[in-house]
Amino acid sequence: MTEGLYRQDPLTPEEREEFEDDLISFSDQGLDLLGEIRGLDVLYAGGSSLLWIEGLSQRAGEGGTVTALDLDQTRVDATAENLERTDLPAPVQLVSGNVFDPPFGPDAFDLVYSAGLFHELDVTGRSAEEALRMLASVVRPGGRVATEDFVNSVPAVQLEDERLDAELALASSGGELFGVGAPGRLVGLHERVLSGVGWRVCAPRAIRHLEKVVLAEEEPATLAALPSGIGERLRERRGALRERIRSEGYTRPATLYVEGRVRAG
Ligand SMILES: C[S@@+](CC[C@H](N)C(=O)[O-])C[C@H]1O[C@@H](n2cnc3c(N)ncnc32)[C@H](O)[C@@H]1O
Repeated sequence: MTEGLYRQDPLTPEEREEFEDDLISFSDQGLDLLGEIRGLDVLYAGGSSLLWIEGLSQRAGEGGTVTALDLDQTRVDATAENLERTDLPAPVQLVSGNVFDPPFGPDAFDLVYSAGLFHELDVTGRSAEEALRMLASVVRPGGRVATEDFVNSVPAVQLEDERLDAELALASSGGELFGVGAPGRLVGLHERVLSGVGWRVCAPRAIRHLEKVVLAEEEPATLAALPSGIGERLRERRGALRERIRSEGYTRPATLYVEGRVRAG
């Protein structure tokens, strides 16, 4: 959402500070719902943003550990560089790999947490349920899996952006993304895999100046590489979306937090 390429920072230093403050409160919203996690071994699955990693490390404290697993080697490398300059209480390990095949033994973690993974999950030939089962398989019996993601329960400009991303992925690589859906779809998924499932839909969180950041992003290289017919259609959609952002701002979707326990055996 906020990590497309842009030539130079479109925000003034004051705007950047407000933007980052809002991103921190957005990440805190889900992390706070985890409750007490001091001393736990935590797997942060499907992400490597320093923001979430820092939040988890601070909450896990000196007696805990944080491992982040992300498919995107470039994001992992960027975070590794930033981590060198950051002093965090719980030690952090960054791993590049796939949640469908997590490179950890059984019972390696007390808690698996993800924020924004599922809508970007490529479910071509494998299901989101399979990914959740694989994540549950590395948690000790009685431990928790908690995930957070966008849902479509209130209209938002970002939902159109996510749909466009999913169509672009399909057109460029044939990859079918799980995408953003109704809360019940993710809740049902967790109920099939975990026990004692609880969930909460959180109201959309505005992020100040996000529209400027999104509008400054360059056209994705994958769009330029598409055959002209489909490329033109998606480029027109992208243009219309950018007009909508200019007039309405970059309104945000609600999020769903859902968690459950890993069954013994
Ligand atoms: C919307 S971003 C998540 C943002 C998140 N809050 C963070 O900390 O980066 C989705 C992330 O999921 C990762 N991802 C997508 N599919 C994955 C998979 N099969 N295994 C591991 N990571 C995956 C992407 O590389 C991307 O970093």
